[in-house]
Amino acid sequence: MSREEQQSAESLLQVRDLVKHYPIREGIFVPREVGRVRAVDGVSFNVHESETLALVGESGCGKSTTGRLILRLIATTSGQIDFMGHDLIQVGKRALRTVRRDLQIVFQDPYASLDPRLRVEDIIAEPLESFGLLPRRKERRERVHELLHEVGLSSYHADRYPHQFSGGQRQRIGIARALAVEPKLIVADEPVSALDVSTQSQIINLMQDLQERHGLSFLFISHDLTVVKHIAHRVAVMYLGKIVEIADKQSLYRTPHHPYTQALLSAVPKPDPSAHRQRIILKDDVPSASRIPTGCRFHTRCPLADAICREQEPPLKEVAGGHHAACHFASPFPIPVHDRPTMPGVETSVPIRQNIR
Ligand SMILES: Nc1ncnc2c1ncn2[C@@H]1O[C@H](COP(=O)(O)OP(=O)(O)OP(=O)(O)O)[C@@H](O)[C@H]1O
Ligand SMILES: [Mg+2]
Repeated sequence: MSREEQQSAESLLQVRDLVKHYPIREGIFVPREVGRVRAVDGVSFNVHESETLALVGESGCGKSTTGRLILRLIATTSGQIDFMGHDLIQVGKRALRTVRRDLQIVFQDPYASLDPRLRVEDIIAEPLESFGLLPRRKERRERVHELLHEVGLSSYHADRYPHQFSGGQRQRIGIARALAVEPKLIVADEPVSALDVSTQSQIINLMQDLQERHGLSFLFISHDLTVVKHIAHRVAVMYLGKIVEIADKQSLYRTPHHPYTQALLSAVPKPDPSAHRQRIILKDDVPSASRIPTGCRFHTRCPLADAICREQEPPLKEVAGGHHAACHFASPFPIPVHDRPTMPGVETSVPIRQNIR
């Protein structure tokens, strides 16, 4: 069995050639398709057991759409999603309900994602009720208290309403709700982006503790390579609907091969202002997902672009053990990358632990 076949066998989630296109229609009486938004345009990756895979990239590159496709919140255009041996694209409604117990979500905005009219107890107990677990109220209440303690809150918080909590506490409630049904994989879509830096580190540490305790896997979606560095085991970098680089965290941060990853990393501030690193400024804005450039989709902004890049789309190829990059001229980072053990520029009261296996 090859290394990749072996990893596939251990994978909780396998995504292959996933595509989501939104048709653009014009015409009032007889609308016709005049184009397509290629939100996700052929994405493949695995998430292993007890692993955090980070999905990073600029706004609009298709991260949330990928997460929503996996959760079957939206229909796929094409591709395959295998989750614990279930074909998530083909699975019927009833079987999907069973699978959904193992597959939960934590949202970005802890203000919008909790129903303001419900008490915390009802919010956290809702998935238990929905799956018919712990039908007796007393048992449910005990489980809610247990979950509140798991996420660093107290039993008395159960009777309060969401507006009575801080952003970080609300995100803890969101995590407790996701944990209630003991899932295997949590898709966390920008779970700390709405929080201040020191609260971000507390939530990240909590997620890592929960992963260790329960063997959870995370698909951690973020636009921030600094946040991801601390929680991820592997990182996938997306650009305009495609993964352009995917690797172990250490490999990606030390030797990024794709010029897009190199540019993103060069923009991450350093804690030591005297450490010198050349910032790579990309020209132009990200093109629209409805007008993706031919050949390599990054060529319009790439400092290395040549004739071949305008004509041929580079495949994701292995550039080092388990490290894949989609670039005709993939080469290791020319600028030294320094390890950053804390958030940039800010002394946090809670140091963030590195997720290294
Ligand atoms: N329902 C929709 N109809 C048409 N286009 C959509 C729809 N949902 C998303 N898109 C488009 O798909 C692309 C990817 O969107 P997505 O929300 O997945 O990006 P993202 O990487 O999560 O961005 P952000 O970091 O801003 O959250 C964008 O160009 C977006 O405008
Ligand atoms: Mg998003």
